[in-house]
Amino acid sequence: MTNPGLEGVVVAETSISDVDGERGRLVIAGVDVEQLAAATAFEGAARQVLAAGGAPGADSLTAAAFGVARTAAWQLVPRLGDALDQPDGMDALRTALAHLRPGAGPVSVATDTADAIAAIGAAPVFVAAWSRRRAGQPPVAPDPTVRALDAYLVTVIDHAMSASTFTARVIASTASDLISAVVGAVGALKGPLHGGAPGPVLDMLDAIGAPERAELWLAGELAADRRIMGMGHRVYRVRDPRAAVLEAAVRPLASPRLELARAVERAAAEILRVKKPDRVLAANVEFYTAVLLDAVGLPRDQFSATFAVSRIAGWAAHVIEQRRTGRLIRPASHYVGALP
Ligand code: COA
Repeated sequence: MTNPGLEGVVVAETSISDVDGERGRLVIAGVDVEQLAAATAFEGAARQVLAAGGAPGADSLTAAAFGVARTAAWQLVPRLGDALDQPDGMDALRTALAHLRPGAGPVSVATDTADAIAAIGAAPVFVAAWSRRRAGQPPVAPDPTVRALDAYLVTVIDHAMSASTFTARVIASTASDLISAVVGAVGALKGPLHGGAPGPVLDMLDAIGAPERAELWLAGELAADRRIMGMGHRVYRVRDPRAAVLEAAVRPLASPRLELARAVERAAAEILRVKKPDRVLAANVEFYTAVLLDAVGLPRDQFSATFAVSRIAGWAAHVIEQRRTGRLIRPASHYVGALP
């Protein structure tokens, strides 16, 4: 018996986050996602997930520590060669992160923690530098008043054993360094079945254009055997709780797309209920990610890389936690090829 999607296979004990797919509840570092997003800025949430993963001293990490990491990354930007010239932001981020030098010597909780801070500080610097360069514009200072973006970064910071998190844990289990683990995880996040969906969600909203066109357009997609982006989830059997958090965060931004998005979500949920009656397919995190990131002014080709800017903290926490088992992750395969 093979299980190619590894559904239901428990590969780790974790204190970082928990997904209840039946009830639509997400707990991160002991706090409900709704509460965490309302009360915490991104770096505070990063501290909490690192502490939950077992990084020593993470609770008392200062904003200055992340600031030092951002400055170091900024100084590295001119030495990234053509890494930032790539058309895809995830390719640029993966290549740029690979320029970070892991802590010297054998991996330890100390090298992991230092690598984690370096990577968390570097990701937004690299993504912003890529985005401005792509637009042919000079870099700009961050705007701390964009609260909705902070709510987004906190909401997606960790999500149990997602494909990219598992990737990071597999790499960590070989006793490789944390930077290698997050570089691999960026590759896993890039795919449209994982973190690559929000750009296509916005394309879908643009293609539909008006609420009354939603039903027909969605029916056409399903007839052509294409999936509706931003709908469905491997674990949730109800609406993804992060969709509600992000939908609420968009409201004060007066996005011209919000009403259309709500209408399209309703139409998509209804048509999927009829066409796929065996499985609840409701909005996932990517649906309102698209609307929110568009409303704060980010270009759609930067959406997945912005997701990575947040999730890198979760990956780092999982790497640190994974070290505790010390066990190489090495599953089996069933040979069906020719025999000699
Ligand atoms: N649109 C249309 N049909 C969908 C669907 C979607 N978004 N998501 C799942 N389905 C269908 C599948 O085609 C399958 O139908 P079948 O049984 O008739 O073949 C059935 O629902 C079960 O799907 P399965 O492939 O087993 O689900 P999964 O657990 O592997 O899929 C996702 C999870 C997220 C990959 C899937 O829902 C998807 O592709 N969603 C769109 C991409 C997206 O939004 N990704 C971001 C995830 S956070």
